[in-house]
Amino acid sequence: MGYAEGAAGARPQSKTTAKAGRGSMDRIRIVGGRRLNGVIPISGAKNATLPLMIASLLTEDTLILDNVPHLADVALLQRILGNHGVDVMIAGKRAGENGDHGRTLHISAKTIVDTTAPYELVSKMRASFWVVAPLVARMGEAKVSMPGGCAIGTRPVDLLIMALEKLGADIDIEAGYVIARAPHGLRGGEVVFPKVTVSGTHTALMAATLARGTTVIENAAREPEIGDVADCLNKMGARISGAGTSRIVVEGVSSLHGARHSVLPDRIETGTYAMAVAMAGGDVLLANARPELLQAALDVLARTGVAVTPTNEGIRVCRNGAALAPVEVTTAPFPGFPTDLQAQLMALMTRASGTSHITESIFENRFMHVQELVRLGAHIRLDGDTATIEGVARLKGAPVMATDLRASVSLVIAALAAEGETIVNRVYHLDRGFERLEEKLAACGAAIERVSD
Ligand code: EPZ
Repeated sequence: MGYAEGAAGARPQSKTTAKAGRGSMDRIRIVGGRRLNGVIPISGAKNATLPLMIASLLTEDTLILDNVPHLADVALLQRILGNHGVDVMIAGKRAGENGDHGRTLHISAKTIVDTTAPYELVSKMRASFWVVAPLVARMGEAKVSMPGGCAIGTRPVDLLIMALEKLGADIDIEAGYVIARAPHGLRGGEVVFPKVTVSGTHTALMAATLARGTTVIENAAREPEIGDVADCLNKMGARISGAGTSRIVVEGVSSLHGARHSVLPDRIETGTYAMAVAMAGGDVLLANARPELLQAALDVLARTGVAVTPTNEGIRVCRNGAALAPVEVTTAPFPGFPTDLQAQLMALMTRASGTSHITESIFENRFMHVQELVRLGAHIRLDGDTATIEGVARLKGAPVMATDLRASVSLVIAALAAEGETIVNRVYHLDRGFERLEEKLAACGAAIERVSD
């Protein structure tokens, strides 16, 4: 298998990652037991990039986005936006050439040629449903396929529809499509969300920028990605205040213009690698990471006994052989512990010295990783929305697979500490949200490589 040279031996294979989304049948092969030491550069946030790209539909001018991660989801959204007539130019670089600094996208929605987002495209990526908001705000109409269920739960769009209705859109649902009409434009209104929703908040925010009058969004999501999108919209001429708090106020304007914006660092990628280091042991600097974006997760890691130190360059994570203490954690909207790190924390707690409890409060069915972690030797019991994890002395490598992005990466984390070889199948889930995953880990000494058939 060629691990004799450790990380160096694993590197040549990982060239394939430069082409995000390619090789959907690829697998990741990991041999556990190596510590991680070095620097991992944190990429731009996937969950900010996607709504930022969608916000480009709000203006005829060009929106320039820097620090864009090279991910399959970004490529897919580029195709979906292309269907509406949006041009996306990736500035002057060939794939993989600009290393750790992300890519620059020039996005121009000068002419919208089609206000329909078809099922074939929306069903591939849920967030693409959000195009409904800028399309109806700018064009007065949008016909967007309902996204349908997905691996982590039913995930309805009722609150997005409610927000658009509050802003004056007429909504019909026909043959699986949401048809939103506002021929004379949207008007400001009060949107009160009964539960915190990131997708609902993005929708209300984008729609309100071009509505006549003032919109107040109550119980808004406070996730940093909402603040990043609001910052960009303000650079485009929007008048938004309060983003990052639970009350956002938007004064509508008649049009938006072009702008340049750099995507904030990915807090979920940061937390994922922090847990990988905690699992494998070692000493790693997560470069460009910002601690305030994931303080709750860093606090949990500190409670497990891992040393987490903010530095001028990012966050340093260090564990030198000490036992991991078990924790009790419930996922919650920001600033709480993120659901997108729940699977990774569970992987880590499989090796804690004691019993942990993790409760998932955001999605009703986000435990697909449990059965796969059990295949690696973990002791986990599920009771409704709570997992009880009894730490074990050792995990043992096995072939595994998972049906969503964060579940897949939790298996990578477990594999780093498992004896022998683990093969993670269905790598395309990882390519959706982790840029150059195996390269970043291999550079710190992990025995990890991509295998193509
Ligand atoms: C975003 O999904 C993220 N996706 C998710 O990340 C993340 O897990 C989630 O927020 C929570 O933080 C992107 O940003 C692209 P929600 P979103 O609307 O916006 C319910 C990842 O791995 N709800 O905050 O779809 C919903 O079912 C992904 O990167 C309604 O009931 O999440 C859920 O229980 C996965 N009605 C809760 O609200 C609605 O109309 C929160 O969902 C909308 C949502």
